[in-house]
Amino acid sequence: MTRPCRITKAVIPAAGLGTRFLPATKAVPKEMLPVVDRPAIQYVVEEAVSAGLSDILMVTGRNKGSLEDHFDRSYELENVLRTKEEHGKLSRLTSSAAGADIHYLRQGDAQGLGHAVLRAASYIGENPFAVLLGDDLIDARDTLLARMAEVHARHGGSVLALMEVPREQIFRYGCAAVAGTGEHDVVRVTDLVEKPSPDLAPSTYAVLGRYVLDPEVFTVLRRTLPGRGGEIQLTDALREMCLAGARGPVHGVVFAGRRYDTGDPGDYLRAVVQLAWEREDLGPGFRSWLGEFVRSNAPRVPAVQGAGLE
Ligand code: G1P
Repeated sequence: MTRPCRITKAVIPAAGLGTRFLPATKAVPKEMLPVVDRPAIQYVVEEAVSAGLSDILMVTGRNKGSLEDHFDRSYELENVLRTKEEHGKLSRLTSSAAGADIHYLRQGDAQGLGHAVLRAASYIGENPFAVLLGDDLIDARDTLLARMAEVHARHGGSVLALMEVPREQIFRYGCAAVAGTGEHDVVRVTDLVEKPSPDLAPSTYAVLGRYVLDPEVFTVLRRTLPGRGGEIQLTDALREMCLAGARGPVHGVVFAGRRYDTGDPGDYLRAVVQLAWEREDLGPGFRSWLGEFVRSNAPRVPAVQGAGLE
């Protein structure tokens, strides 16, 4: 079994084309779409930093230059705001990468999530590391990564984040077959399948976009053949590791906290509303406006409750 050690490095795959958001993502990376007043990727970086993962590798691709600009200094803007004594805006401007040491690597060929993670192999080396996917935003009050690191410290191997979803939604996620461990939020992962149809899914445990991985994953990914969608799937490599992993078990932390999905325009809209609702500064005004908006429109849109936004 791997001897657990402190995790300090995080990989953030950010090379996806964002085709579900066209035309918004024609010239703007999907990671840069604002969620309230911060680009989605900034929430992910802040989550990593607050979990002690300040050494970050972002795996990007073509047309993703604005990600690097966002996490860099902007001296002209800083000077303008300083001259105007706009201190609040200045601190928001300089906080985008607070505490993070971000490195960038281009994925090159777009061969899927497993391939993007494999590109991080030489950067990561021999220690366990975290992977954070930008479509899932985890509320800053829910310390999922810290819990995963703690489970990893006890069990070694790899640790996935799982969430129970309605069976009809499981086709959107990796799905885990699990066995209990006696701990209410920790399971042993016994099998995995990427985006199964609801009737074939072994459970309703969906894989969320947070992983603590043993570097054995690189060895496995090198021999992982293209799977679903013709892409090299991280889920397929993890399946091999949970069935026959040489370097420890695969566990799952079952997350029941606040998660905001920004994966497609409907989810994104919900995430923006939820996060704006929760904000201390914007929330009170937004909540009363939204309440009034719903009250005044509900009678005219009776189907609103069950209507999908997709
Ligand atoms: C990826 C993974 C999937 C996981 C999901 C979580 O899928 O392949 O196993 O459940 O992230 O967000 P994607 O959403 O990139 O298609």
